[in-house]
Amino acid sequence: MIRDEIGLTSPKDWCGGLGACGSCTVIMNGRPVLSCLTLACECDGADIETAEGIAKSGHPIIQAYIDNNAFQCGYCTPGFVCTSKALLDRNSDPTEADARDALGGNLCRCATYQQHPPAVLQAARELKKT
Ligand code: FES
Ligand code: FES
Repeated sequence: MIRDEIGLTSPKDWCGGLGACGSCTVIMNGRPVLSCLTLACECDGADIETAEGIAKSGHPIIQAYIDNNAFQCGYCTPGFVCTSKALLDRNSDPTEADARDALGGNLCRCATYQQHPPAVLQAARELKKT
């Protein structure tokens, strides 16, 4: 897995690689994918983003997650961040419903669901300023 072999620890294995939790989500060629269900051979030549890279780029979704307290333990957060960033890449003006729909495959044991859509909408507003 990406975290074991490459040392990028943001993608998490929560559901045991069953494709059920979204904690392992990364962005591949602009689309959120479950890394636990993606074979290495499928990634040859692909453009892959993780939460580490999103944070390093200064993307406003990171500060929006902080400002909206959109995490508790943080275990699921990188997956939510990747899914949120992929939504913003393809939709610069998402509605709250768009955010809820996009994030529907990401689970959070700490039940921070209410805070994610406001974080996405804040990041969208910030991106419009740039
Ligand atoms: S580890 Fe749960 S969907 Fe990949
Ligand atoms: S913040 Fe703890 S699992 Fe989501």
